Amino acid sequence: MERTLVLCKPDAVQRGLVGQILTRFEQKGLKLVGMKLRQFPKELLEQHYSDHKERPFFPSLVGFMGSGPVVAMALEGIDAIAVVRGLMGKTNAREAAPGTIRGDLGMSFSNNLVHGSDSAESAAKELALFFPGADELVDWTPCTLEWS
Ligand code: PPS
Repeated sequence: MERTLVLCKPDAVQRGLVGQILTRFEQKGLKLVGMKLRQFPKELLEQHYSDHKERPFFPSLVGFMGSGPVVAMALEGIDAIAVVRGLMGKTNAREAAPGTIRGDLGMSFSNNLVHGSDSAESAAKELALFFPGADELVDWTPCTLEWS
């Protein structure tokens, strides 16, 4: 069982696509164990993308991610990291396969709707960064009682 961080980027929030994106993950069978909407500070975003700090696109990436509210989610499931990355599709939305989130919903390289952790190490680091509180991720099991 793995947990991974997904960010619905400012373009996804502003286009009203958060519900559709979450639905895809839920319908696949991933379990939502944490969720928040925030306009995250530049310092946190710089830390999140620190592996890319020498890349020429780093300032514009951090600027874009700080330009509006982002929805951060923690998702859980077997091989959740790879499953999420598969559902997201390739970084460049124009090249992403039909059936993927980016392939179906986007046309941009840099405003590409979603982020998903790319390894177990990144997932642990990113979940701790976006959900630092001890009670922010919820361990829950489906209720087995009949609804009445
Ligand atoms: S790499 O080389 O595989 O690590 O890079 P990649 O996974 O493709 O991209 C890492 C994150 O950087 C973003 N990115 C860009 N943003 C703006 N402009 C340009 N040119 C650009 N190239 C890459 C990309 O969307 C990835 O962001 P996240 O949030 O991790 O998806």
